Amino acid sequence: MKKAIYPGSFDPVTLGHLDIIKRSSKIVDELIVGVLNNNSKSPLFSVENRVKMLKEVVKDIPNVEVMSFEGLLVDFAREMNAQIIVRGLRAVTDFEYELQMSQTNMVLDDTIDTIFFTTSLEYAYLSSSTVKEAAYYGADISRFVPEPVISQVYDKFKIKEK
Ligand code: PNS
Repeated sequence: MKKAIYPGSFDPVTLGHLDIIKRSSKIVDELIVGVLNNNSKSPLFSVENRVKMLKEVVKDIPNVEVMSFEGLLVDFAREMNAQIIVRGLRAVTDFEYELQMSQTNMVLDDTIDTIFFTTSLEYAYLSSSTVKEAAYYGADISRFVPEPVISQVYDKFKIKEK
């Protein structure tokens, strides 16, 4: 059975993340979306909130589960019996960081491999940070995040939905 982890901060989940979840879930038996419990990064949403939003947006994909994790990703992957880490690559600017992370993970545990999905062109520019900035200034974020997430992001900035 092929089991993969798609890890990230998901603060909040974007349509780009959802695209990677949909595509990667098709090539594995089970996909676990791992939400990093990273208070040091001062996230906009609590880890519980991020997990809840993700659960809502993946509810119709039967082989996808959402969980939070703390500590090393490879430890979480081992705990879950996952052999694969999934990451998305938007542009060449992602490459150096992703390469370093996947190679570090490989040294930490060489039984777990990272596979990369190139982000669909329509989402290549998207990131959780730009979504937050756009929402902060009152922009329409409906093309950036899944529908159930829109109002929750606006609520954080006390902005009425567009
Ligand atoms: O969405 P992000 O913030 O780019 O995701 C980064 C994430 C969660 C994949 C990465 O920070 C991570 O795996 N953190 C857990 C600690 C760890 O294992 N780091 C890599 C080896 S040092």
